[in-house]
Amino acid sequence: MLAKITNLYDYIQKYHNSIQHPEDFWAGIAEQFFWRKKWDKNKVVEWDFDGPDVKWFVNGKLNITENIFERNLYTHGNKTAIIWEPNDPNEKGRRISYKELYEMVCKFSNALEQQGVKKGDRIIIYMPMIPEAAVAMLACARVGAVHSVVFAGFSAASLADRINDCKAKVVITSDGNFRGSKSIPVKFVVDEALDFTESVETVIVCKRTGDNVNMVSGRDIWWNDIVDPAGSKHEAAEMDSEDMLFILYTSGSTGKPKGVVHSCGGYMVYTAYSFCNVFQYSADDIYWCTADIGWITGHSYIIYGPLLVGATTVMFEGIPTYPHPGRFWEIVDKYNVNQFYTAPTAIRALQAYGQEPIKSFVMESLKVIGTVGEPINEEAWHWYHAHVGKGKCPIVDTWWQTETGGILISPIAGITPTKPSYATLPLPGIQPVIVDKDGNELKGNSVEGNLCIKYPWPAMIRTTYGDHDRCRETYFSKYGIYFTGDSARRDEDGYYRIMGRVDDVINVSGHRMGTAEIENAINEHPRVVESAVIGFPHDIKGEAIYAFTICDMDGRTRRNLTNEIKATVGKIIGPIAKPDIVQIVPGLPKTRSGKIMRRILKKIAVDDTDDLGDISTLLNPEVVQEIIDERELVSDDNRPLDKK
Ligand code: WT7
Repeated sequence: MLAKITNLYDYIQKYHNSIQHPEDFWAGIAEQFFWRKKWDKNKVVEWDFDGPDVKWFVNGKLNITENIFERNLYTHGNKTAIIWEPNDPNEKGRRISYKELYEMVCKFSNALEQQGVKKGDRIIIYMPMIPEAAVAMLACARVGAVHSVVFAGFSAASLADRINDCKAKVVITSDGNFRGSKSIPVKFVVDEALDFTESVETVIVCKRTGDNVNMVSGRDIWWNDIVDPAGSKHEAAEMDSEDMLFILYTSGSTGKPKGVVHSCGGYMVYTAYSFCNVFQYSADDIYWCTADIGWITGHSYIIYGPLLVGATTVMFEGIPTYPHPGRFWEIVDKYNVNQFYTAPTAIRALQAYGQEPIKSFVMESLKVIGTVGEPINEEAWHWYHAHVGKGKCPIVDTWWQTETGGILISPIAGITPTKPSYATLPLPGIQPVIVDKDGNELKGNSVEGNLCIKYPWPAMIRTTYGDHDRCRETYFSKYGIYFTGDSARRDEDGYYRIMGRVDDVINVSGHRMGTAEIENAINEHPRVVESAVIGFPHDIKGEAIYAFTICDMDGRTRRNLTNEIKATVGKIIGPIAKPDIVQIVPGLPKTRSGKIMRRILKKIAVDDTDDLGDISTLLNPEVVQEIIDERELVSDDNRPLDKK
């Protein structure tokens, strides 16, 4: 457990100190960890945002799992580390103590080494939400291999892209994956992906569903076959602070997803620090984050942050609505969850079921409730506060990103004030600034602009894997400081409200999608000539995807074609990237230089076409009215094929 912020005055004082003396501030936190060798004197941080070249705890040596296990075992070896709740409430859950988890991690570490895994090797984890997924991540960290978890809902093509980008040597997966009433053939997807990759030598398959799978001899091995004979003691690899801990792929405004790289020392310090402060975790609390380990939230706030401070973390395999829409609340009562952390999209989806599914649960144990992933609208905030938090739990609206590694702007539960739809104030150590489009810092309150961070923090992105220039260009070169891609408002009280992305990124249910990436997938359909994708407001998902496509119909009906296009996107990226609406259009509004005018398409998508601004300078102004006129075809064209 780390020292926590205890009251508002303490917050203000720590914030102030963290700005005046950032190195002392971070050293004070880092000293509470176990280092095989401490960082060099006076070298808490070395940084240059032009590179970018950022190093924290320079020359420090550690292993993050030694900080989870060896550092904690004497005090709470028998404490439950992971409570696992299966998809099906009738199946028995699992409680794994720190000692048991330690042994599982040691065994799997030995097994990985026996398979020839070495420090620095990249390992893809493509698994359901089962404890073995956590074990796989931690064992990679223990042997010094770099894990890259790929959300198990991504398609074979997306998986293959990621394997190829990081040249993974091993893939860890399962036979299948239970999700709601479905069983998803995960191993089959891996097999398909591996037809398009060359680097993978070994596939480790964990049994979950018992479905039949095809085991390729010489390549595929069962988890248990290598784990059962493995020794239960393992000496952790010594890692440098700046050695890579993991890669996590995320979408940007251009091209293929990029591999965000996090390093060992800084990520460890920051995830533990932010976890115990934001949620005000106390030793006997039961904490539950509903994210999937395939996203950064799962990395930082199911696995690393909670386990580093010796917390009990709930891991849930299923979905919020299976077998009934009270499933989340049932689990809260079942385990007496004290801190509950979920996404606005889940809140809105459950809110839509009304009071009925929630009213039979008492949820008295809850002390803190949190949100992450997208702006939360005021209505959902109030519903969450009243019906989940029963009016007594502070809501921590946590703003952060895959690239930031941990929460940067958020209330500190019960200590700093909350405000509906505001992420509120930065954590001590974090220096946000708002800049105008030319990069001038907008000082004072009541300002709005692009959100940047002007001083490094330990868990920040170090590079984009294999392409450092891309990291510089995406985040640093525009303003010379870290640019988040979000716009924000700092209100009259100095509180931050995140307004949304300013780049070509759509946030669907808290998942980040690049418009270019979706357009590329759509364009793979042989009948699509050109496409333009935009985000539009959606009651539950926050934003949904609207695709305008120019097609060569080739005898197909419009409805058949829109359905085929959606299926193509599902196949190429994964179901989460499927457009809600595909509109087949005769042309796309373009400037004379050929740039698609998304501003106009956005207005058409929401039926706000009274004032489209000046369109006379377009290359093809007449197409705008045609698109507006044909918008009425959209609802019929987008009916799924299997429904009447
Ligand atoms: C983008 C980052 C952070 C883990 C999950 C998403 C949006 C995130 C909030 C919030 C408003 C938010 C931003 C950010 N976002 N949290 N509390 N309020 N917007 O991680 O996929 O890296 O996406 O999500 O637009 O840039 P991600």
